Amino acid sequence: MKFFVDTADVDEIRDLAATGMVDGATTNPSLVAKTGRDFFEVLREICDIVDGPVSAEVTATEHEAMTAEGRKLAAFADNIAVKLPMTWDGLKTCRVLSQSGIQVNVTLCFSANQALLAAKAGAAFISPFIGRLDDAGHDGMELISDIVAIYDNYDFDTEVLVASVRTANHVKDAAKIGADVCTLPPGVLRSLIGHPLTDKGLAAFLADWEKTGQSILKAEDGT
Ligand code: E4P
Repeated sequence: MKFFVDTADVDEIRDLAATGMVDGATTNPSLVAKTGRDFFEVLREICDIVDGPVSAEVTATEHEAMTAEGRKLAAFADNIAVKLPMTWDGLKTCRVLSQSGIQVNVTLCFSANQALLAAKAGAAFISPFIGRLDDAGHDGMELISDIVAIYDNYDFDTEVLVASVRTANHVKDAAKIGADVCTLPPGVLRSLIGHPLTDKGLAAFLADWEKTGQSILKAEDGT
């Protein structure tokens, strides 16, 4: 499973990219607004840090304008994936941009039929928002199962990019289903490593080692 980071905070992305766990990044207008910074300046920095796809969202809502914005974003860096909303104009734009070789991420997906439409429009990624579905009393992970099954049935190449992820369990469950990508808020990505028995075990190893009075680097081992 690929991990993308779901933030426009460049410091967070740089820090997490150093772990080798970051395969891409996703932004949206709300995440960019949260930084208080210039959109293209932020985008430049993210594209320089992250090798994989960096999703940048159009803000136009009409097909011609969406296409123009999408082309401008795609020309900005080689690794841009143009993010388009799940609307008929968005799908028309997805088809046009995909046919010209631009990677498109169709966002704000809340149903399996929407995901089917995005795949038929040639999207490289579909972004089902599981956390927002859970918040609304639905089962976000059931949607991931449905989309993975449907895409498998028809051999669609569109990658299932699990979005609106809230917890480490979301990541585990999406991986069990076989989703292609999870885009993770930095806090969720960091939480994946946590286990109290790891902390407890390491503390015990270090305490026992301390009692020996030895040091690996200071030891005379003949090297
Ligand atoms: C990702 O592409 C989405 O923009 C993001 O995951 C939305 O998450 P939220 O529901 O926490 O805002």
